[in-house]
Amino acid sequence: MPDIPTMEHILAYALRAPSSNNTQPWLFRPGEDSIDLLADRTRALPANDPDDRELTISCGCALMNLRVGTAARHLGGQVTLLPDLDEEDLLAHLQIGGPADADLAALAPAIELRQTFRAGFQKRPVSHDHVAELLDAATTEGAWFVPLHDEAAREKAAELVAEGDAALWQDSSWRRELAQWMHPRRKGDGLTLPWLTLPAARLVVRSFDMGGGVAAHDAHLTEGSPLLAVLGTRGDGPRDWLIAGQALQRLLLVGVGLGLQASYLNQPLQVARLRPQLAEQSGQDGAPQILLRMGYTDDRLVPSPRRRLEDMVI
Ligand SMILES: Cc1cc2nc3c(=O)[nH]c(=O)nc-3n(C[C@H](O)[C@H](O)[C@H](O)COP(=O)(O)O)c2cc1C
Repeated sequence: MPDIPTMEHILAYALRAPSSNNTQPWLFRPGEDSIDLLADRTRALPANDPDDRELTISCGCALMNLRVGTAARHLGGQVTLLPDLDEEDLLAHLQIGGPADADLAALAPAIELRQTFRAGFQKRPVSHDHVAELLDAATTEGAWFVPLHDEAAREKAAELVAEGDAALWQDSSWRRELAQWMHPRRKGDGLTLPWLTLPAARLVVRSFDMGGGVAAHDAHLTEGSPLLAVLGTRGDGPRDWLIAGQALQRLLLVGVGLGLQASYLNQPLQVARLRPQLAEQSGQDGAPQILLRMGYTDDRLVPSPRRRLEDMVI
């Protein structure tokens, strides 16, 4: 049975997971030798994510960190997804015990080092061997991962990102929601912006459609990304989103070990009419969930803030 410091250690890994707009939409319910993962839907983004798809993917990322943290403490973990359909917010049950998974334990040091890297990468392409390792990480978790190699597919993806940006920025509810999640660092969640003082940035985002300029910038980023890839799943419900989250976090952690960081170009997934077009580019059955740009970097950004563990524990 894990003692309290061990439990705290495992949970401290979980809260470093990425989440859309850094909402950290999860709660943890530790038992004697288990941890339940619950969705905290008070942290949902109804304009950006009306079905809680990204919220559930974010929780899937936290679940992967729980598994890695458990393995790092030399313990095994057995996951049951959606264990009780009467408790809709209960997303997963992690039963702790048995032998540790050495592959997962090896990913633990990457948890602190992973960060969403929105700056430029080194210009060199991602090697075939490293792409194969990312693919292996995603498929181990039951997701698919498709690098967009050819120029036509990359250009189409860039077009979809620009179109998505334009659509999102035109939507005043979406802009208001984004502004609400622009927070000072001390608050422990949300997006912190270095480029404007915060009240001014909030006002700008809430009031003005910046779609044109953002779209051009993001299209440029898309085309200039050393690796552009779609992560997807066979189905498109809560179970698939939890699979996508675990696969995403696993491949991000594997990537960190190879010198890679990532950021997101999810705009075509956040605008319903564009999603089938991205699906077409991936050539896979099922649903695209995340569009990632990845590349090598030695640079470190200031880590994004997190809430206190005690505020996430039931
Ligand atoms: C499901 C999901 C969707 C995300 N979508 C975006 C996005 O569209 N654009 C973006 O810049 N970052 C996106 N992010 C990254 C988050 O903003 C980031 O994880 C959060 O701010 C915490 O920062 P960190 O990843 O550096 O720890 C997404 C993350 C997740 C898990």
